[in-house]
Amino acid sequence: MRSVIDILDLTVEELDGLVKVADDIIENPNKYSEKCKGKKLATLFFEPSTRTRLSFEAAMYELGGNVLGFSEAQSSSAAKGESVADTAKTVSCYADIIAMRHPKEGAPLVASYNATIPVINAGDGGHNHPTQTLADLLTIHREKGRFDNLTVGFCGDLKFGRTVHSLINALSRYSGIKFVLISPDELKLPSYIKKEVLEKNNLEYVQTTNLEEVMPQLDILYMTRVQRERFFNEEDYLRLKDSYILTPEKLTNAKKDLSIMHPLPRVNEISVAIDEDPRACYFKQVLYGKYMRMALILKLLEIE
Ligand code: NCD
Repeated sequence: MRSVIDILDLTVEELDGLVKVADDIIENPNKYSEKCKGKKLATLFFEPSTRTRLSFEAAMYELGGNVLGFSEAQSSSAAKGESVADTAKTVSCYADIIAMRHPKEGAPLVASYNATIPVINAGDGGHNHPTQTLADLLTIHREKGRFDNLTVGFCGDLKFGRTVHSLINALSRYSGIKFVLISPDELKLPSYIKKEVLEKNNLEYVQTTNLEEVMPQLDILYMTRVQRERFFNEEDYLRLKDSYILTPEKLTNAKKDLSIMHPLPRVNEISVAIDEDPRACYFKQVLYGKYMRMALILKLLEIE
């Protein structure tokens, strides 16, 4: 029984395997439509979500399985003071696999220690979000055809943005990746990730506050939302929220084959005028997330 709490829980070979399965699901959806017949996915969401929860649920339905769960802590026994450990033991009696999102870093890990079924981390606080990374990786693979020799810009809230943390971890295992970290000083990538991932693996990276200056180098621009819910005070949020707003003018010097990514939800950091630009990939990410979650559910349930 295996859980996925961190993207590094999956080897590079396993990631390649998931991409292959997702590509095959896209080509031959009918082949997969009964694979999870009789199986149940529990979605335990203690924090808001649109894409992650609904794509997990759509994934399970498209595999012929069923879904149960809750979408807010207030409607679960957490509101009565139940621990994550007890919730995980309980849900193990009713479902075959869990997808859990929680505002506390490490909660899905605790769940995995106590569950008797696989647990997937669907986002834990400002820490990690491995299944968004699966969506991001399939997008990169389908857009660029490779995971190596890419200059990848991460822009916005690199401090609290858990999707950034997981994607940097994932890309750290490929060669020739150059990381360009674009953020205000207050929202820089946490030093534990800089030290333990970038520096430890001798990866090339630069930090800057200026998006336009680095734009011409980028193969991928990964925009992020300033994570209001993780701020300690509203004033800081208000001061930083509009640090980067991507507009068509700012793309003047960008590569013709740049891929513009964003895990969504978008607030205002990408102008809607960019949505029609062929370089905009963020709604493809939404769709690809469902296929990668299908591939992951099959893997963790050990279904061929
Ligand atoms: C992200 C998240 O929840 O971390 N959303 C998502 O799952 N696609 C990004 C965000 O909320 O800004």
